[in-house]
Order: sequence, then structure tokens, then C-alpha cells
Amino acid sequence: YSTTIYILQCIVLLYKLQCISDQFEVLGPTDPIVAVAGDDIILPCYLKPNISAEDMTVDWLNLDFLDRRVYRYQNHRIIRDDQIPSYRGRTSLFEEELWRGNTSLKLTRVQGTDEGRYKCFIKAKSWYDDFTIQVLVEAVGSKPVVSIEGHREGGMGLLCESEGWHPEPELVWLDSEGVHLSAGPPKIHKDIKGFYTVKLHVIVQETDTNRFTCRVQQSRINEKMETEIHLPSE
Ligand SMILES: *[C@@H]1O[C@H](CO)[C@@H](O)[C@H](O)[C@H]1NC(C)=O
Ligand SMILES: *[C@@H]1O[C@H](CO)[C@@H](O)[C@H](O)[C@H]1NC(C)=O
Repeated sequence: YSTTIYILQCIVLLYKLQCISDQFEVLGPTDPIVAVAGDDIILPCYLKPNISAEDMTVDWLNLDFLDRRVYRYQNHRIIRDDQIPSYRGRTSLFEEELWRGNTSLKLTRVQGTDEGRYKCFIKAKSWYDDFTIQVLVEAVGSKPVVSIEGHREGGMGLLCESEGWHPEPELVWLDSEGVHLSAGPPKIHKDIKGFYTVKLHVIVQETDTNRFTCRVQQSRINEKMETEIHLPSE
């Protein structure tokens, strides 16, 4: 009887040891990754201790999407089902690094829609852990293009347009003294890659200088672009 108990205890102990040997932590950077649109970036993630992840499931998820799946590695294969379409052909793991617990994701040609919180989720047979990192995307748009639309409502109609921004920029019209001119709300369009185009009409009255400036700025990335126009007097 006691031998049976002893054997059972050994089995329990061995099972626990097996579990403990499988334990790991998933780690990555605590500061956000700041990416410039168009660049290739690495989202760091690794196991501690640095055991092999080759036999594990590695999931990369973008928590700001409903269906979430950015990348999956399972049973030594890349699983492409259910991948968010905007990530198709732009994501990979460093497969030659998996044996030492490096599960970082490479993301190429960063675009506006890539901004978000990414979870690196790693599952072994009897253990799992995850780590979430934040990615911020910066894109400076084009120099504003100003066009003259002709006489409107007792003044001159002007249009300013700038494209390719991330995050969403602000657009203002200024006179030669730097005073804001009143205009309606800008028209904002977000394209399929998550970049913003802004447009704003204004009607100006003739002034001494007849100089007007369109300024597009984004405070988070601390960037601005301006175009000045000089209207010939009547
Ligand atoms: C794993 O970590 C140990 C201790 O931190 C280090 O000495 C070893 O070089 C690492 N192994 C690999 C394959 O990176
Ligand atoms: C993982 O591998 C990539 C590519 O070789 C490397 O740039 C990165 O520093 C590695 N990360 C860790 C934590 O070893």
C-alpha cells in the first residue's frame, strides 16, 4: 500500500517538475515603438528564460481590430487563415531566432492602420503568457496645395489641400499677420492605408498685402507644412 502511495507521489512530483520546466515569461518593451510610415520595424518579444519557442504557438494580435489576427505560427507552420487583410505579405517572424526564445515580429512598409496595441501571445503545452506593446505611426503629409476658386460671396474663394498624414492633422488659414481666418470645418478623408487627407475652403477679402497662408500641422508628431499664396490685386 505505502509503495503505491510512494509511486503516486513520484508521478505527481514528476508532473509538477514537468510543469515548472515549461514555465516562462513573455517580455517586450514597455515604451511605445514609434514608426515612420514606409519603414520596416521590429516589434520585440521574447521568452524568459530563453527557451525554444519552436514547438509553441506564437500569436501576434492587434487589439484595436475586431478580428485581431496579425500573425500565427503553430505546429512549425505559418497559419494565414483569419489574418487581418492589411497585414498580408508584410509580417514575418525571425524563424532562425525561435530556438532561443526570440518571437519578435517584423512588419514591413508601415502604414497608418498599423498604429495600435499589439499582443504577443505564446502558448506551450501546459503554460502560456503574453505581453502587450504599443505602436505609434508618424507620417508627415504633402506640402499644402492652394488653388484659387474665383469670386465667391463678395470675396475670393481659396482651397487648400494636403494629403498623407498620420495621425489626423489640423488645417488653418491665416492672413499675413498670422491671424486665423474663419472657415468651415475641414473635410477629412482617411484612405485604406489609414493616411489622412485634409481640405478646407475659405473666402478672403482684399487686404494691403493680399498674402494668405494655409498651415497644416500635427502636434503629436510636432510637424507642420505651410504654403503661402499672393493674390494679384483687382
Ligand atoms: C540564454 O540566456 C543565457 C543567460 O541569460 C545566455 O547566457 C545565453 O547565451 C542565452 N542563449 C541564447 C541562445 O541566446
Ligand atoms: C530577435 O531577432 C532580431 C533579428 O535578428 C533581432 O533584431 C532582435 O534584437 C532579437 N531580439 C532579441 C530579444 O534577441
